Amino acid sequence: MKATNFTILITGASKGIGAEIVFHYLSLGHTIISISRNSSVVHENHIQYVADITKEAEVMNVISDLKAKRTKIDVLINNAGIASMNFMISTPLSTVMEVFNTNVFGLFLLTREVSKMMISKNYGRIINFSSVSVPMHLEWQSVYASSKAAVEEFTRIIAKELAPFNITANILGPNPYETDLIKKIPDVNLSSVIQQQAIKRKGEINDIIHCIDFFINERSQCITGQTIYINGVF
Ligand SMILES: NC(=O)c1ccc[n+]([C@@H]2O[C@H](COP(=O)([O-])OP(=O)(O)OC[C@H]3O[C@@H](n4cnc5c(N)ncnc54)[C@H](OP(=O)(O)O)[C@@H]3O)[C@@H](O)[C@H]2O)c1
Repeated sequence: MKATNFTILITGASKGIGAEIVFHYLSLGHTIISISRNSSVVHENHIQYVADITKEAEVMNVISDLKAKRTKIDVLINNAGIASMNFMISTPLSTVMEVFNTNVFGLFLLTREVSKMMISKNYGRIINFSSVSVPMHLEWQSVYASSKAAVEEFTRIIAKELAPFNITANILGPNPYETDLIKKIPDVNLSSVIQQQAIKRKGEINDIIHCIDFFINERSQCITGQTIYINGVF
């Protein structure tokens, strides 16, 4: 992490993990730019864009505005995501489209545009959110886990493409953490996931913040293309 104030652009800041990340880095005096469809915590150092990351025109409007204001983005956190739990044979195509539109295509749009801004400054840190559902191959999550697997491979390849510009790209895979995203998952399923972890507890925000701190630390300039899953999932 830079010693001075830095600017983080985060998607999905209106609630859940994203809102907690925003709150944390604002409390340390950093500047946050966020993109969500609903508004988030109000603060003088928080620039909020209400936009849908699946809509290219809306993303491009945000990017144009940031460029017009000559904003330098140090860190991009692609946190926005949606989940679905379905038995594959009863999953509507519309669900697959919605999950991939958000988790993969929206993430792609932000990464493509913000990377160009970072390249012009020869500096950047990108963190893309995956999930333990990828290494755990969880039943009922074929669509969600597939979308996150796509995020992981995308991140590893862009890590190579962006390395010459002093930009790192890494993956953070939380385990179950109490938010709206998992509230419909039955307790018995959540317990089963937790029992398969080396460290058998739900996620906590400090686990996530600690990984972000590591990825954005100035001394992590050689850490790229890597994945950290929380609570001992491998
Ligand atoms: N919670 C867990 O157990 C868990 C486990 C593993 C991985 N994850 C990952 O962690 C990330 C955050 O999840 P969470 O648990 O915090 O979920 P959450 O509480 O449901 O919050 C999701 C956030 O994403 C935003 N979002 C969704 N679709 C969007 C869109 N089209 N455009 C802009 N913003 C959008 C939502 O904002 P709006 O609705 O206002 O747009 C919201 O702020 C996700 O990538 C998720 O896959 C979570």
